[in-house]
Amino acid sequence: MERIDKIISVASGVSRADARALIKKGLVSVNGAVVKDIGFKADEKNDIICSRGEKLCYSKFVYIMMNKPKGVISASEGGSEKTVVDILPDSMKRKNLFPAGRLDKDTTGFVLITDDGNFAHKILSPKNHIPKTYIAELDKPFDDNVVSAFEQGVELKDDLCMPAEISAVDGDYTKAVVIIKQGMYHQIKRMFKKFGITVLELKRIKMGRLELDEVLQPGECRYITTDELGLIKS
Ligand code: URA
Repeated sequence: MERIDKIISVASGVSRADARALIKKGLVSVNGAVVKDIGFKADEKNDIICSRGEKLCYSKFVYIMMNKPKGVISASEGGSEKTVVDILPDSMKRKNLFPAGRLDKDTTGFVLITDDGNFAHKILSPKNHIPKTYIAELDKPFDDNVVSAFEQGVELKDDLCMPAEISAVDGDYTKAVVIIKQGMYHQIKRMFKKFGITVLELKRIKMGRLELDEVLQPGECRYITTDELGLIKS
């Protein structure tokens, strides 16, 4: 059991004082009944707790899959720019959320948003070899030369990329499935640029073995289940 003001604060990312204000205004309910007593204790694991009409998720850490739209940056704070954390629905917002890994502003697809720093580190560290799969649309077809260079590891300025996989989508060599295990700055765009090819569109479709849920429209998100987390790490 946990005090209701703490639950509201942790689960919706507001201060304790703001959580108490919401409770006093009658905007918080537990199992359908409005709770106005800030000292009320609820069972954070089993009770249905709502704030401003939205069901809250109270757990130590959360893991969210977002289909990132274009024009939004992969950061938790972006000054004048909109971030993936800004566009989360209010019911999913809480303290310390950040995207585990960066997609460029014009890249779309799977972004994992979490408040679990250790987990993020594990899936991002190149040492752990977690594959990230992308679909790239190109201004011209790639050839065998590109395939063998990607497989050996493309050299970018001073960085040697780890071996990557590349294949054509349905025999169309202007559409590539690319699998990389690092997240270097503009990595895929720079790898193609080395061969005079421009990436026109880039979408991340998979992290580890977990695919982006196809029901998610750009900008939409949902929680990742514990089983699905296993698919990312294994
Ligand atoms: N590679 C890129 O070039 N951009 C991304 O957003 C991700 C991988």
